[in-house]
Amino acid sequence: MSKKTIGIIVGSLRKDSFNKSIANYVSSVFPEDYEVKFIDISNVDMFNQDLEDNPPTSWTKLREEVASSDGFLFFTPEYNRSVPAVLKNTLDVASRPYGQSVWGGKPAGIVSVSLGAISGFGANHHLRQVLTFLDVYTLQQPEAYIGNVMALLDESGNLSNEGTKEFLKSFVSAFVKFSEKF
Ligand code: FNR
Repeated sequence: MSKKTIGIIVGSLRKDSFNKSIANYVSSVFPEDYEVKFIDISNVDMFNQDLEDNPPTSWTKLREEVASSDGFLFFTPEYNRSVPAVLKNTLDVASRPYGQSVWGGKPAGIVSVSLGAISGFGANHHLRQVLTFLDVYTLQQPEAYIGNVMALLDESGNLSNEGTKEFLKSFVSAFVKFSEKF
């Protein structure tokens, strides 16, 4: 059986992003028969339908990367109780041209990561809402809300909290089982 490719999309461009730290850990605990690739969204041009006649290279590259993934894991910060604009732009760009969305029919997992106690709940569920419309099937359980994240990392910014590591391993196991159905 060929390897399944899972695209990881991190909704923060920050160099020392906490979401990126958690994503790095999660990518390291996937089974060997999975290929995990980070999809870089830092240079995706802002969507403007007028550009569709001659789309920017950043759009075609993103669309190809999304199309060649068998599933996705999203790591999102919460900005003002929703997802960061860079993540929404990524979702929008790969959903067009009309009728040619490259998202549909695939599985996805969502992890929200925040400094606060509410753990990015708003962003997590706004993202879930958009993915439902894009026909992306989201893992329902376990939900993954990583709050108070600074207390979970070591001095180098790597995940060090054992309980969170165990939880994320169980999240990956559930996601792998879910994605086998597709
Ligand atoms: C935030 N932050 C934030 N946190 C939260 O829990 N709920 C929120 O609504 C917001 N809103 C918000 C808006 C804007 C514009 C910024 C820049 C930040 C704080 C956010 O959780 C924090 O910056 C995280 O560190 C972002 O994740 P990364 O970049 O570390 O992955």
